[in-house]
Amino acid sequence: MDKLIVKGNSDLYGSVNVSGSKNASLPILVSSLLSSENLELTNIPQLDDIMNMKKLLISYGVKVKDSANGIILNANNISNKITDYDVVRKMRASILVLGPLLSRFNKAIISLPGGCAIGTRPIDIHLQGLAKLGVKFEIENGLVKARADNQLIGNYIKLSFPSVGATENILMASIFAKGKTIIDNAAREPEIVDLVDCLKKMGANINGEGNSKLEIVGVKNLKQAKHTILNDRIVAGTYIIAAIMLNKEFTVNNINHKHIESLLAILKKMGANLKIYNNSIKIFPTKKLKGIKIATAPYPGFPTDLQAQIMALMGLASGNSEIKESIFENRFMHVAELNRLGAKIKIKNETAYISGNIKYKGAQVMASDLRASVSLVLAGLCADGNTTINRVYHLDRGYEKIEETLLKCGPKINRQKY
Ligand code: EPZ
Repeated sequence: MDKLIVKGNSDLYGSVNVSGSKNASLPILVSSLLSSENLELTNIPQLDDIMNMKKLLISYGVKVKDSANGIILNANNISNKITDYDVVRKMRASILVLGPLLSRFNKAIISLPGGCAIGTRPIDIHLQGLAKLGVKFEIENGLVKARADNQLIGNYIKLSFPSVGATENILMASIFAKGKTIIDNAAREPEIVDLVDCLKKMGANINGEGNSKLEIVGVKNLKQAKHTILNDRIVAGTYIIAAIMLNKEFTVNNINHKHIESLLAILKKMGANLKIYNNSIKIFPTKKLKGIKIATAPYPGFPTDLQAQIMALMGLASGNSEIKESIFENRFMHVAELNRLGAKIKIKNETAYISGNIKYKGAQVMASDLRASVSLVLAGLCADGNTTINRVYHLDRGYEKIEETLLKCGPKINRQKY
């Protein structure tokens, strides 16, 4: 196991170039299962989740090789094996293989993904949507056994919630379905738009991406394609928040500001001093930050994946703040750890009440999920004294060698084995 030692009262200078999006890369990697031709992807981030997804695809028989500045995947000759529990438990995005395998083989068996630190993470919306395409399910011994008597049939599907994963799974299941599929109340995240962009380059017939209604007309097969992965808006937002917390001049490059509009609007309301360019955001020191009341919501609302990070910032504001977590039922695991670092946060039902005017003090803390762990790094950078963050494997799932990136910009962070 690794731990990070974060030195407090950190400096921060220069800039950071944001890498490719984890949450765009994962479904796009899975989409390679749909095609018998090469799919070349560039700007894939180097993350544990990506490495594990490549391993999963290889276990199906997908050929994965490095190209000049990316990877080439070929799923011409794959076997429809069972995705075992250990893989799905560690990486929930494995559930996304269901759609493509059903498209290719009309049947698939995958372990039910368990819950995780942030919630029970059910897949009922996925299964309800796939059933509308003619898929029948048996769930026994922790396995989802899915099959369709013959080719999937296009249909009108209205999601009960704009689930990102369910939208992706049903979208990929509909690519070869007979006729038209409409996914109503679809998720609108930029990562969905990037998946659609890639599928269209492969020859899929899809319209409506970025809106709540996706229209797909089934095609016979897909062709060779090349796609550059979208940059990671959550990583970009994390670094923007870090610069505001440290109150230093800093630039975050390679980010489409339109993808973080809700974050930028809230930071400006709090009094942050930002200059917004086409593909980068420049942060300047500010005199003081005001508290604010926000709620997480599906895109284009405030992203749940930035909730822990902005909570760490709110402790430094001159007034109190509130965050209502509307997406996951248990995404406040970082609160106890931030309180160990000197925050004063109380939770009542799905709302966190954050006192402002606090000063973080270094301590030993425990990471619990990917985004919670990065909020502890941010607080540690601002704290008096050193902070030790245990179970750093959570961090490695979503942030490309964060300590190496930050070491180039001033912070003193080192990684130790224990
Ligand atoms: C994706 O997860 C992201 N993961 C999450 O990022 C992100 O937090 C989430 O979308 C919301 O934006 C990837 O893209 C790999 P959902 P996903 O289906 O698809 C409930 C990170 O830190 N739900 O939109 O699993 C669910 O329990 C990760 O990078 C059902 O009830 O999210 C949750 O409360 C964390 N039934 C809500 O919907 C279902 O069938 C949103 O889930 C599916 C979801």
